[in-house]
Amino acid sequence: MSTDLLNPTAHSFSSQHMNNLFEIPSNVTYLNCANMAPQLRAVTEAGLAAVRGKASPWKLSAPEWFSGAEELRSLAAQLLGVETDGVALIPAVSYGIAVAAANIPVAKNQSIVLLDQEFPSNVYAWRELARRTGAQLITVKRAAAESWTDALEPAITGNTAVVAVGQCHWTDGAKIDLERVGNRARELGAALVVDSSQSLGACPLDIARVQPDFLVSVGYKWLLGPYGLGYLYVARKWRHAVPIEQSWLTRSGSEDFARLVEYRDDYRPGARRFDMGEFPQFVLAPMARTALQQILSWGIPQINGSLTAITEAIAQHASNEGFTVLPTGQRCGQMIGIRHRSNIPDELPKVLRESEIYVSIRGDSIRISPHLYNTQNDVTRLFAVLRRAYSRS
Ligand SMILES: Cc1ncc(COP(=O)(O)O)c(C=O)c1O
Repeated sequence: MSTDLLNPTAHSFSSQHMNNLFEIPSNVTYLNCANMAPQLRAVTEAGLAAVRGKASPWKLSAPEWFSGAEELRSLAAQLLGVETDGVALIPAVSYGIAVAAANIPVAKNQSIVLLDQEFPSNVYAWRELARRTGAQLITVKRAAAESWTDALEPAITGNTAVVAVGQCHWTDGAKIDLERVGNRARELGAALVVDSSQSLGACPLDIARVQPDFLVSVGYKWLLGPYGLGYLYVARKWRHAVPIEQSWLTRSGSEDFARLVEYRDDYRPGARRFDMGEFPQFVLAPMARTALQQILSWGIPQINGSLTAITEAIAQHASNEGFTVLPTGQRCGQMIGIRHRSNIPDELPKVLRESEIYVSIRGDSIRISPHLYNTQNDVTRLFAVLRRAYSRS
């Protein structure tokens, strides 16, 4: 049986090469990047070196408080295909959504449009805003054969203040056509907020065409970075909006440590005013830079091509075993949810864990999210265990 990656043309993605880059034991089948990416060895090394660096703070110059974060901002901007000034460094999606919710005007007679079963970090801030303003929260459901985009469009009306969605649904990778949603939102005067945590780094996204008002992503999933450091893209028209905290580091002139108490009202340029407190993140930032450099060198379209080949193979296996999957055109390539006509067997989580196979169960969907370290062998192992578990149930 071949243990090569499922995309035979991707020579630079050979399984041997990936074994060298990641440290996943051969008995582990990790198909859960949508939960948390395993760490590249180079990212671990960058983190260890950075932890050691704190032992000698006298070596850290004042410009270095900013230069590492600027380099990271620029890498994130390259990845997003936007100008460096448009990116803020944030700790979590909840933080980025809070920035959007604090600034987008929402009135009592307006609505906020979300997807059914959305990830909570893209729900609670909007629920709170709706509670405070009296606006209506609209949760869009989709019919069995309907795409999210078709379900969303009619829900966006002249009364919509905000549409807050992902590029795919976090439970099963179901695609949302952000260009169409963005067009409709703009036409009707609604703001578009995107949580791209489940796609950025593994699925191409054209921000110039989508034109989100705010776009947010964690760094620890498809961006292969550490936990606790994510990214917020802020469209030009919002770059004078109000940050949700007031750090000394985000003010103009903060590079001059001798004059910090000459308090000033102006901020560092662009989206930097939205940077989180202590954004230099001397340990996390070097790790995140290493991860983004690796993704940029592989290329997002190439990553997506390889992951799509894997999820297509999974879809094939799944259909043969009596699971249903969304049609290819309705999925982002990097992950797939499979659903069985019978309920998920109670013992499935235990059986998977004992077999060292890692996927996520999200509602009625088994979410399978590979990355370049996965091989045909992983898919075969997963379905052998699923077949056993379902035949017993
Ligand atoms: C779509 C999506 N958004 C956000 C997050 C994480 O949110 P936060 O950074 O607020 O913890 C996850 C985690 O699974 C997610 O799937």
